[in-house]
Amino acid sequence: MTSIRLIKHAPGAPGLRIFGLGPQMQPAKGILKLKELLDKHAFWAKDRSPKELRHLLAQSTVVISLWSDKRMIGFGRATSDGLYRAVLWDIVVARDLQGLGLGRKVVDALLSAHALKKVEKIYLMTTYSTEFYLEVGFKKIQGQQVLVTNGNEYRTS
Ligand SMILES: CC(C)(COP(=O)(O)OP(=O)(O)OC[C@H]1O[C@@H](n2cnc3c(N)ncnc32)[C@H](O)[C@@H]1OP(=O)(O)O)[C@@H](O)C(=O)NCCC(=O)NCCS
Repeated sequence: MTSIRLIKHAPGAPGLRIFGLGPQMQPAKGILKLKELLDKHAFWAKDRSPKELRHLLAQSTVVISLWSDKRMIGFGRATSDGLYRAVLWDIVVARDLQGLGLGRKVVDALLSAHALKKVEKIYLMTTYSTEFYLEVGFKKIQGQQVLVTNGNEYRTS
């Protein structure tokens, strides 16, 4: 396998979001690469437009991407108030590279980010990957449930 690079983006990921930068701050069509990764490997995040992905990045407190040359092979992000609560979102590793410790690297990088250092509780929601999150340090919540309602206008166009 070629060498893998993990990028800890600045809050809002301006390099990736505005210029599509990848490893070593080189142009890498990063938004299209992110779209491809999510479309192929993240069932909950298919068909997000480049504009929506830029919006999502701009609103994220921590953004991590993993690259093999100019291919984006992993991603994860967190939103937070910086003190009380944070939530991890959109954690994904390309299917052909799963099971090699890369998902753990993405989660570790998110949890060790400076912006989350003082946060009291970090949450996430998962459909099929509970075992993975238990392996990387999360615990099931006793006595709480995830509830949801749809936003009125969830598209940014
Ligand atoms: C979930 C996901 C990010 C995990 O990434 P990964 O690179 O495959 O995981 P890792 O190789 O870093 O695994 C870390 C540990 O979790 C364990 N693990 C990973 N997936 C597991 C599973 N499905 N069941 C049990 N254990 C699992 C690994 O065995 C490893 O344990 P070890 O360090 O003791 O060997 C990846 O499988 C993925 O992208 N899945 C599709 C998208 C998805 O569902 N994302 C989660 C959204 S909430």
